[in-house]
Amino acid sequence: MAGLQGKKILVGVTGSIAAFKAAAWVHALVKEEAEVTVVMTRAAARFVTALTFAALSGNRVHVDMFADDPGQLMAHISLGRDADLVLVAPATANTIARLAHGLADDLLATAVLAAAGKPVVLCPAMNSAMYRHQATQENLSRLRDLGYTLVEPDCGRLACGDEGPGRLPEWERVREEILHALTVQDLAGQHVLVSAGPTREPLDPARYLSNRSSGKMGYAMARTAWRRGARVTLVTGPVAQPPPAGVEVIRVETAGEMHDAMMGVRDQATIIVKAAAVADFRPAFRKTRKIKKHQASPSLELAENPDILAELGRTRKEGQVLVGFAAESDNLKEEGRRKLLDKNLDLVVVNDITRPDAGFDVETNQVMLIDREGCRTLPLLSKEQSADAIWDHVLALPPRS
Ligand SMILES: Cc1cc2nc3c(=O)[nH]c(=O)nc-3n(C[C@H](O)[C@H](O)[C@H](O)COP(=O)(O)O)c2cc1C
Repeated sequence: MAGLQGKKILVGVTGSIAAFKAAAWVHALVKEEAEVTVVMTRAAARFVTALTFAALSGNRVHVDMFADDPGQLMAHISLGRDADLVLVAPATANTIARLAHGLADDLLATAVLAAAGKPVVLCPAMNSAMYRHQATQENLSRLRDLGYTLVEPDCGRLACGDEGPGRLPEWERVREEILHALTVQDLAGQHVLVSAGPTREPLDPARYLSNRSSGKMGYAMARTAWRRGARVTLVTGPVAQPPPAGVEVIRVETAGEMHDAMMGVRDQATIIVKAAAVADFRPAFRKTRKIKKHQASPSLELAENPDILAELGRTRKEGQVLVGFAAESDNLKEEGRRKLLDKNLDLVVVNDITRPDAGFDVETNQVMLIDREGCRTLPLLSKEQSADAIWDHVLALPPRS
């Protein structure tokens, strides 16, 4: 799946004190090579000038439905008709009310109607009392029923000094909603369970055994599955990744905790992706107090952790798809194939951890996909692109007898 590159996004800016933030969002869209056109309400133009949006988008900005300008005639239709997606940000209470009732009394409202059938993403921003008002809530509910995507506002201190819901959310969350709205929902109806990150096996309150997994690949699998319409549960070891939008996140530390979390969800999952780097061993004894240097011995006794993937393979339900990841440094194909058969998997994704641009903690990956029919190597891709290619492969897997 492509990102936002080449997507035609119509950004509708309305008369909120948060209108200046839309300038940064237009800049972010243009940086990703989206084709951005801005339409402003008359009230929005009191907060930020059209010149700002024209400079940032590289396109003329539309405000007046009746502009006496040959280049803009019929803009009330073409703006919506030509867009892949309409983003209204910030969306005032007034514009929300007008859109909920299908009014067409300004250029933005008319363009939204002319975009019938296209995704519309709305980011309400207003004082919390205005947001909580029954009239606004009923309008928002009606917009949801009409199929519009509503991005919940953040809570916090507002420009008027009140505290509560009403702030524009962070761009990353809105970007995810845009990608979700633009993506073919080919994983709709699936419940995907993903594990990601390392586990930590404590030795004492200060020390643990772990590994170099950053969680990036597992998080990319979870993020892309949600974008493609799946319900997603992510069981994650300790990592520095932000929680993916729309995904239910269960945080664990040890292999034992990861085992219990995975077994708690596996029966509801239709596809399980085990991308976590679970420690095979843990310290046999865990001290409750920090081990002092003079008490420590130079050797460490280890105990074996449960093999989560093997257990999932042994107890899999009929029709459930099971995908494992393998981090290997030698004999990638043979090791992957052995894992596929030993653990009763449908697909093994093998990372070559000796490559500097693949595997642990880098942004890119080059993986080998091994299923029962054969093996293929994907090119070097970003982890998100690799995740999408893996989902394409999962969807094309032949059913298991
Ligand atoms: C300083 C100031 C800040 C405002 N901020 C907001 C806001 O954040 N959200 C909102 O819904 N209305 C806000 N309003 C009220 C809108 O500007 C007003 O309802 C206007 O009619 C909206 O028109 P539009 O929806 O066509 O842009 C604000 C008004 C002023 C004077």
